[in-house]
Amino acid sequence: QTIYLKDYAPTPYRIVSVDLDFKILEDTTRVRAQLTIEPREQTPPGTPLVLNGDELKLDSVAVDGAPLVLSAYVSDANALTLVEPPHRRFVLETEVTLNPAANTKLMGLYRSSGTWCTQCEPEGFRRITYYLDRPDVLAPFKVRMSAPKALAPVLLANGNLVDQGDLGDGMHYAVWEDPFLKPAYLFALVAGDLGSISDSFTTMSGRKVSLGIYCTHGKENECHYAMDSLKRSMAWDERRFGREYDLDVFNIVAVSDFNFGAMENKGLNIFNDKLVFAQPETATDANYHSIERVIAHEYFHNWTGNRITCRDWFQLCLKEGLTVFRDQEFTSDERSRPVQRIHDVQNLRTSQFPEDGGPLAHPPRPDSFREINNFYTTTVYEKGAEIVRMLATLLGEAGFRKAMDLYFERHDGEATTIEAFIKVFEDASGRDLSQFATWYLQAGTPQVGVTDSYDPASQTYTLTLTQKVEPTPGEPTKKPLLIPVRFGLIGPNGSPMGFGSVSGGAVEDDLILLDRDSVTLTFTGVANKPVPSLFRGFSAPVKIASNLGQEELLFLARHDSDPFNRWDALQTATTTLIANAATGTAWSGTEVDALRQALVDTLDNPELDDAFKAQVIDIPTEPVIGRHIGKNVDPDAIARARADLVRALVGPVAEKLESIYRGLEVTAPYSPDARQAGQRSLRNGLLNLLTTGSDRGSDLASRQYDNATNMTDRYAAMAISARNWTAGAPALLGDFRTRFAGDPLVFDKWLTASAQAPDDGAIERMRATLTAPDFPRTNPNRLRSLLGSFVMANPVQFARADGLGFRFVTEAVAEIDKVNPQVASRILTGFRILPTLETRRRDVGLDALRALKEQHTLSRNVSEILDRIIAG
Ligand code: ARG
Ligand code: ZN
Repeated sequence: QTIYLKDYAPTPYRIVSVDLDFKILEDTTRVRAQLTIEPREQTPPGTPLVLNGDELKLDSVAVDGAPLVLSAYVSDANALTLVEPPHRRFVLETEVTLNPAANTKLMGLYRSSGTWCTQCEPEGFRRITYYLDRPDVLAPFKVRMSAPKALAPVLLANGNLVDQGDLGDGMHYAVWEDPFLKPAYLFALVAGDLGSISDSFTTMSGRKVSLGIYCTHGKENECHYAMDSLKRSMAWDERRFGREYDLDVFNIVAVSDFNFGAMENKGLNIFNDKLVFAQPETATDANYHSIERVIAHEYFHNWTGNRITCRDWFQLCLKEGLTVFRDQEFTSDERSRPVQRIHDVQNLRTSQFPEDGGPLAHPPRPDSFREINNFYTTTVYEKGAEIVRMLATLLGEAGFRKAMDLYFERHDGEATTIEAFIKVFEDASGRDLSQFATWYLQAGTPQVGVTDSYDPASQTYTLTLTQKVEPTPGEPTKKPLLIPVRFGLIGPNGSPMGFGSVSGGAVEDDLILLDRDSVTLTFTGVANKPVPSLFRGFSAPVKIASNLGQEELLFLARHDSDPFNRWDALQTATTTLIANAATGTAWSGTEVDALRQALVDTLDNPELDDAFKAQVIDIPTEPVIGRHIGKNVDPDAIARARADLVRALVGPVAEKLESIYRGLEVTAPYSPDARQAGQRSLRNGLLNLLTTGSDRGSDLASRQYDNATNMTDRYAAMAISARNWTAGAPALLGDFRTRFAGDPLVFDKWLTASAQAPDDGAIERMRATLTAPDFPRTNPNRLRSLLGSFVMANPVQFARADGLGFRFVTEAVAEIDKVNPQVASRILTGFRILPTLETRRRDVGLDALRALKEQHTLSRNVSEILDRIIAG
């Protein structure tokens, strides 16, 4: 059934404190919970107490030490109800027995490669014990755990270790106490035979915090980059936000079976091991970058998520959007701000815009859901971060910091809401943000239209901006948003163009506030016709229907002082040429020559850094072009047009590109730092261009593959060959697979490259991989690397007109759903492209979805996604 935000009400009972006792044995785990509970003041006597459960079986239940009579409670797998609890403070004691090894959903307590670990967000704690499993129930937790010493020498939980010892019979125990109030979703426990590295951090007030990273034995030396990232994150949060860590210990555990990236449990973060382990031979620069980002993200949650948490799951964006913003800022400060901004916007356009413009569109703060796990989306995370970024833009750096200080001061220790968050920004700035709040409440990407004119006689320049949001499921009409447009006017010689005054709308310095359907600004005292540079730094998550022609775009690419817009101008020019060609309007030779010249000039510009150049020469991917076209999409036509354009661009300069490529080889020993990684990314970007656009690429790639001394270069050579399906591709795929057999995280790279290759053998190759007897079909990383990459990044094969791609995926989803519904439903979201496809493809896609619905009993996770996509 559907859950609505409007039905929110606090629980009638509070949980005052939690005492847990885990007895972990090889095959079963017994959980005894002692919950001190009391009615709230307003709760009438006789109000039943309903505790959540999920696949639980109650062994015993007592109140204040006395076993309950059968008539006093009702229990099943999903709930324990005390019919008439005492109308005073009391202790409820329950016992349940779990089988962690059989828990393939990976929510609650489960075993991963022998290690016992937990995942409780959002509703996993109810799979461990009967509880008020919702984020607004906050309590201090004390956890005692005992386990066989041989299987689990390491025993970890939240907070501080307060006792440990031997129990005889090969058993030992540990007691952990977390003094901070927390909701159950932040609970964590780990027991296993693990290696570790340790370090320490001294906080700004001089407290020494012990840091530990735990992992499979033998992997310790691959944890150092994660540790370094953690220490830099701790220092950054003090510097930038004045936030200090609050416990004596901070531990991270890397596990191999995990439903997503990582989890911010209080003092005990649990990570997907792909976001911890790194060494040059097996991890790419991109992997190092992700490790740094996610370590920071989870650490930053300690303040934005844990100290201040969410009142209910509709407010998920409160902690996620804000924390993504914080991790983006961290990376910008640690590496290059413009490069990071481009990276984040590329990600937004590749994944969030398609979500927001399709059947799965929802507001960053939804008002209903069937399965909350389906709402850990790029809209909640990445659009949520864009909304916080717009607040920072509106308030300015100092104003934003002041508001954040107020947020921490006012809401520390609370479970709060988006409204309260907005209120803080209003109170700190004195601004009315009621219209701005619509960003959280409304789905869809606004489209901003631009027209302008210049009158030389009166030296006036007129700029009209319009906004419009297409209807999204359940939201037929849309309100205008407050859109901050950071801008500049550029004069004919490429330098900033001054003006006398501006009228017709709100303009604050270099910021236009587009707050209505249409705003027309009149600038006076403008000496020449300017070229407008709008949405500098991508100041709002909108689609810009630019009025600029190719010539003006290329002018911006050369002269804009805003690096983001320089990049974006070339992306727009390129996307437009490819999209036009794919839909029947061929480009002209002059257009291609001009675009080529702009790319070459960028490459030759000594003032730009390599990482930035790499982003400039990165040709928009097929899914991004498909989105740009919007409807009646034919992926084959896009792939052809894209390859044709790259050939036309590269042909005359192939030799030059190759020589730049050769000159960029890194000779120093491998380091994952931003500069060296940037050099490799430019070199691999050139290899990509040469491979798509000339016949030099295939050999170059094979040679690079053979000579590579790090995974970044080796993987790039293989993936580029596979995506372009060069003559050398099959051999490289074959070699890679055997060379790294036995390393699961490298196998994931092979799975991804193999799934993204557009050759007609792709589906057979994937089917053979997936059905091989030794394929680990319960591991989320393996499944996502194969199927997630396929649905999101291989439109040519996934959206085949004969339906083979769609059916391959729905059949796999039906199987995976029986094991792990979260992984299954995530893969299924790839079908959100259906409404954009030409009718034949759309119809066979819908057929595959309907067959899935009719032929299988599906989880709530998968059913919800399926129904929303079918409803369109
Ligand atoms: N809170 C975690 C993070 O942002 C992710 C939890 C994801 N949970 C889920 N059900 N998808 O890092
Ligand atoms: Zn998060």
